[in-house]
Amino acid sequence: MMTDLETLQAETEAAIAASTTPRELDAVRVGIMGKSGRLTAMLKELGRATPDERRERGAALNRVRDVITGALDLRRVGLETAALDSRLAAERIDVTLPPPPEQSGLIHPISRTMEEMAAIFGAMGFSVGEGPDVETTWHNFSALNIPAHHPARAEMDTFYLPGTRNGHPLVLRTHTSNVQIISMLQGEPPLRVIAPGRTYRADHDATHSPMFHQCEGIAIDRGLTLGHLKGCLIDFLRAFFGISNLPVRFRASYFPFTEPSMEVDIGWNRKTGELGGGGDWLEILGSGMVHPRVLANCGVDPREWQGFAFGMGVERVAMLKYGMSDLRPFYESDARWLRHYGFNPLAPVALHEGVAP
Ligand code: DAH
Repeated sequence: MMTDLETLQAETEAAIAASTTPRELDAVRVGIMGKSGRLTAMLKELGRATPDERRERGAALNRVRDVITGALDLRRVGLETAALDSRLAAERIDVTLPPPPEQSGLIHPISRTMEEMAAIFGAMGFSVGEGPDVETTWHNFSALNIPAHHPARAEMDTFYLPGTRNGHPLVLRTHTSNVQIISMLQGEPPLRVIAPGRTYRADHDATHSPMFHQCEGIAIDRGLTLGHLKGCLIDFLRAFFGISNLPVRFRASYFPFTEPSMEVDIGWNRKTGELGGGGDWLEILGSGMVHPRVLANCGVDPREWQGFAFGMGVERVAMLKYGMSDLRPFYESDARWLRHYGFNPLAPVALHEGVAP
């Protein structure tokens, strides 16, 4: 048979072992050694015992108290260590994680659209080239087969600047087509370059801004044909708008720097504004086979090399893709508009996901 003290020790040790938090453990301690605890009550009863009984019983009670105190201490240290370990594990900082989304900074739709173009054309082997905003009339016009007094110069509402470079007057470039010239002068064929960037014309209304953006493209290689141009642009437009069967139409046109020249239209519904079906056509970009005279102006032999080129308005295609009706907010820095149309900087353009939103 167990004595009452042995029973108390066994039950207390079991309760200590069963405690899983410092709080539970403390409840066990109070139940034994608190003001009305079981051991405290036994110690109080000692007063009524005879001196002999008290000595023996007192020693036994002290022993049990020491055992229980030791067991409580050991268990508390164990529980606190375990709690700390699990907190350390749970709160460990994973430095490989991206920071939480920062809502105050978003990517402007123009930047995003140009990144999408770079991603799609990049997958077709195009690199991104650049040209200056302040350009010579040679790069902006003459080398592109737009002679002085050609109506195209007047149609473009050019901003002329004081001064000259290499003997040529300066303008704010009216299109990104200057990068065609720069790419051929700086590089060697074969080459594939796109050039997104700022352009300028003296024009201002709901659909025109004096500063806007274009994206140029040029490919020079042996044996390039209109078929390559068409395939390249059809692939681009379908990927960009995220519509795999987007109707694309090539319509004969005129640009001084291409021969033949074509406007490119995509299918849409004029009434609803929806892209794809609907039976109506929307002009979206200009293109053509690089004029032999432009090749020759850049030291590229037109008997050996052929090329195609294209140019499109960045705002225009962004407005169509993202459903914006007015051009002006692009440049007004209205935080409400930017929050609505801006893009998460931590979700960059990824071609494998498709670049449609
Ligand atoms: N530069 C032309 C413009 O601003 C657009 C353009 C048309 C670019 C045909 C081209 C092209 O490269 O081949 O209107």
